[in-house]
Amino acid sequence: MEDLRPFAQAYIVEDDLEGRPFSHQARSLVYARAKGDLDKHPMGTELDVYSDEYEWVGHSIAPTSDVAEEWRVTVGEGSCAKPYSSSLLNISAMSFGSLSARAIEALNMGARLGNFAHNTGEGSISRYHRAPGGDLIWELGSGYFGARRDDGRFDPDKFRDNAASDQVKMIELKLSQGAKPGHGGVLPGAKVTKEIAEARGVPQGQDVNSPAAHPEFDTPIELLEFVTRLRELSGGKPTGIKLCVGQPHEIFALGKAMLETGMHPDFITVDGAEGGTGAAPLELSNSVGMPLREGQIFVRNMLVGTGLKHKVKIATSGKIHSGAQMAKSFALGADWCNAARPFMFSLGCVQSMNCHKGTCPTGIATQEEWRQRGLVIEDKAPRVARFQRQTLHSLREITIAMGLQTPWEMKPLDMRERINGARSDAFDKIYYFAEEGVLLDRPETTPLARHWEAARANSFRRGG
Ligand SMILES: Cc1cc2nc3c(=O)[nH]c(=O)nc-3n(C[C@H](O)[C@H](O)[C@H](O)COP(=O)(O)O)c2cc1C
Repeated sequence: MEDLRPFAQAYIVEDDLEGRPFSHQARSLVYARAKGDLDKHPMGTELDVYSDEYEWVGHSIAPTSDVAEEWRVTVGEGSCAKPYSSSLLNISAMSFGSLSARAIEALNMGARLGNFAHNTGEGSISRYHRAPGGDLIWELGSGYFGARRDDGRFDPDKFRDNAASDQVKMIELKLSQGAKPGHGGVLPGAKVTKEIAEARGVPQGQDVNSPAAHPEFDTPIELLEFVTRLRELSGGKPTGIKLCVGQPHEIFALGKAMLETGMHPDFITVDGAEGGTGAAPLELSNSVGMPLREGQIFVRNMLVGTGLKHKVKIATSGKIHSGAQMAKSFALGADWCNAARPFMFSLGCVQSMNCHKGTCPTGIATQEEWRQRGLVIEDKAPRVARFQRQTLHSLREITIAMGLQTPWEMKPLDMRERINGARSDAFDKIYYFAEEGVLLDRPETTPLARHWEAARANSFRRGG
């Protein structure tokens, strides 16, 4: 009965707005968009618009009529020999190993069909990423898989070789993720199959360790040096970092290091504490790390407050599954969004909560071949592409309703959030948004003063 609980709950017990991490309504929206079914909703909202969880987007009396069909964002312009024109919604990092071969191949084929990017996750580039030929963002975690020496340190030659692939469009250095921030991991030898060993560049059947901290750098300046080295070794591809914000002074330490050295990442991916994973200690998922909204505002404030925003793009992830979720993130400063679990839903994930056991009934989060038989790549890839396209279509509809030309024009004051049943306020009254350059001239006038004061370019430790 315990094993059947998730299914009984999902199919029989839960109502539309229940279901965790994603409600039935959220999942159904992705399923409908992926299948090309009707994604409309009857009878008006089921949400309680007077509950303090309610928030909304302010539309205009004068919607726009001449809005572009599609937007792209150029990453790495000015700093990279090979800037990348990215879609506004990409597939967030999920490794081959946490996902099955067929899931990876279907996701990548979907990315190719829809002209968007697929992040490899920490497990490096497998043959299932390569086969369909869709754009890749190669993620490098502390295990440096795909660019790893036998002792676990970074191997520049292997990195250069793998990064040279035409399919690799950007590099992402992973510092942390919201579901298990600050956590390393050991992949047990039993799970290091021939194909996983081949993709990661590690010996088959032996335990492999990803330490919690990167062995290649200790300080903010060293981190920027490593980013710069990766960019150079990749032949000038946009190179960014991914993190879940923990301690704000560390974000400002990165800002001070950027100002001091003139080096910078091309993008920062901010992952929220609400983010997903295949498996994580419950306490780290439930109680460590900053939720997306606050985290992305800290990063935005660091970049805008130091006058560096024009050099560094912001990508965001954390339960972004719809046009409205994207719009709210754009209003807070995102340049594009990533989604992981929503793309799993587009493949047919039923949220059975078995990823950590490898017994996924839909063949997505498992390495067992027989469980993957039902995942027909040619059927699922168009669903992945359709979900992405329809979500961007919804973002476009919201942009039009707001009377804007692009989602980058959305501002915090366009979004409102309930504080209680009787009162609501715009995001700019609830959160602090730094003015351009304010941290350079008069940091003491901002609520960020103590974090700025504690930040040092040559250490992540709290100074002062
Ligand atoms: C099955 C699974 C595997 C993941 N693997 C990685 C990974 O290898 N590297 C990483 O940075 N994030 C990983 N993540 C986190 C996602 O990339 C993403 O940051 C997070 O799930 C938030 O997005 P979502 O709410 O759209 O799922 C994984 C998430 C899932 C669900």
